[in-house]
Amino acid sequence: EDLFQTLAEEIEVLKKERKAIIIAHYYQRPEIQDIADFVGDSLQLSQQAAKTDAEVIVFCGVHFMAESAAILSPDKIVILPDANAGCPMADMVDAEGLRAYKKRVPGVQVVCYVNTSAEVKAESDICCTSSNAVKVLQSLKGEDILFIPDENLGRYAANILDRPIQLWPGYCKTHDRLTKEDILKAREEHPLAKVIVHPECREDVCQEADYIGSTAGLIAYAQNSEKREFIVGTESGILHRLHQACPGKEFYLASERLVCPNMKLTTLDKVRDALIALSPRITVQEEIRVKAKAALDRMLAL
Ligand code: 13P
Ligand code: SF4
Repeated sequence: EDLFQTLAEEIEVLKKERKAIIIAHYYQRPEIQDIADFVGDSLQLSQQAAKTDAEVIVFCGVHFMAESAAILSPDKIVILPDANAGCPMADMVDAEGLRAYKKRVPGVQVVCYVNTSAEVKAESDICCTSSNAVKVLQSLKGEDILFIPDENLGRYAANILDRPIQLWPGYCKTHDRLTKEDILKAREEHPLAKVIVHPECREDVCQEADYIGSTAGLIAYAQNSEKREFIVGTESGILHRLHQACPGKEFYLASERLVCPNMKLTTLDKVRDALIALSPRITVQEEIRVKAKAALDRMLAL
């Protein structure tokens, strides 16, 4: 605790010197969320990165998130405190594979989850996040739509709209560890609780849920609900904000395996070191950046 306090103070001073903003995803460690200027879901974080006037953005999240910030704000220094913080789901599709698919299905419109590399975004028509996937699909006319790379989110959005779309076989390794049996067991232990899950969860898990939503969606649902108890089917870091936002309510993580190792790589000492060194810096090659930005801008305009 004392160490956290000392590091937090150091970070506060460095942040001012560097004219930096620290933004963090809800899956980050509690002490990281506590020092952040802004904590949010993927959509809110891209909106924040697009509009900030800070000179340096320290992105406490994973690589694709920092990369999106670099795509939207090329004149800013974007820092990812641990360069190894990746997203296994984002790695399940690459630009070459996507180009091959587009060749096989000429005219296909590609919706890419924000959990993708800049190269993949550059090959896509429009981005989405888990909070606007339905809206993004709705905005597209035409028959052939490919959703990459999250099969679960794509299927969830397509089911809501009752619209057939083509799915890429990708998934989140963290959410995939949550099983239907985990939910049934948690319901038995907490019969009065509502089950709230992220759309990255498997289909049979989603079928057991009372509410499905993005991280920000889950927090808003718990806040507005009359209920006092919730079984939570998403990454463990969200519990920190749920407790802050909903004093007096109880939250039970649906499985102790709901921990994303990449999200946990960011620590206070790495944030401090990153602010001192202004590194590891995330940049995107200009030709790719411009194309990727078009897909992000199209989403942000909705
Ligand atoms: P959201 O915050 O948009 O729900 O994203 C979840 C996620 O898995 C990010 O990696
Ligand atoms: Fe990627 Fe899943 Fe981790 Fe999010 S929680 S960064 S989707 S592996």
